[in-house]
Amino acid sequence: MKGMILAGGLGTRLRPMTLVTNKHLLPVYHQPMVYYPIQCLVNAGITEVMIVTGEENAGDFIKLLRNGKDLGLTRIEYAFQVGEGGIADALKLGKHFVGDDKVCVILGDNIIEHNINEAVADFRNQPDGAKILLKEVHDPHRFGVVAFDGSGEITEIIEKPKDPPSNMAVTGLYMYDSDVFSICETLKPSARGELEITDVNNEYLRRGNLTWAQLEGWWTDAGTIESLHRATNLVAETGANKVNGKMPVLS
Ligand code: DAU
Repeated sequence: MKGMILAGGLGTRLRPMTLVTNKHLLPVYHQPMVYYPIQCLVNAGITEVMIVTGEENAGDFIKLLRNGKDLGLTRIEYAFQVGEGGIADALKLGKHFVGDDKVCVILGDNIIEHNINEAVADFRNQPDGAKILLKEVHDPHRFGVVAFDGSGEITEIIEKPKDPPSNMAVTGLYMYDSDVFSICETLKPSARGELEITDVNNEYLRRGNLTWAQLEGWWTDAGTIESLHRATNLVAETGANKVNGKMPVLS
């Protein structure tokens, strides 16, 4: 399975810091933000990774990550997203890198306490389709949110609902078969002008080929002042990307 980390976008919610650097290069406690999704993939045995970034400061990712070996990667590729066309627009850039393989996609500002090793192992055994990871939150209107029927099956995923049907957020950690790239080609921009990852997930749901699991431990994004502060405190207090209770040490 390949990995993709989506680290494009303009990070407008973190201005003025993001006027001079990319959001994913900002520190979260003792590491640049982008280290966390890389560690998460490496923990799960995914060491061939594409980093998607774009616009200003794209070159700084190469300075920081170089060939990826110090971080445990065996292969690193970089892709440049022009503009800010959305998460599914960034994902499109992995088509040739992923080929016929499966892909685990992590949003560059998502940080978790533990690991996704079991979910990745389950998806390796899932013949095809997609798998999403959910987490109960107190502020679901900020996220993609799932609606369940009476028997606990997902009926729909709604992006940033005003009236959330549940407290279960779709986290920014997704697994797909290679069909995802043809699905991305069919998408139309949403009201906010972006190709939405929620539309991709709803298409897998429509096909009856979407599985899900709940994330253990804390999960947070770090894309706003409040959530960046929260992420820093959580990492300082408990550590992130833990396997058997321990956080890996990176150079
Ligand atoms: O964090 C989980 C949430 O992420 C999900 O619950 C939502 O369904 C999903 O849409 C997304 O919501 P956000 O509005 O918080 O996403 P944001 O625009 O902050 O983008 C998240 C990351 O995706 C960002 O750190 C970099 C990457 N990205 C985003 C855009 C818009 C790109 O690489 N390119 C882009 O054009």
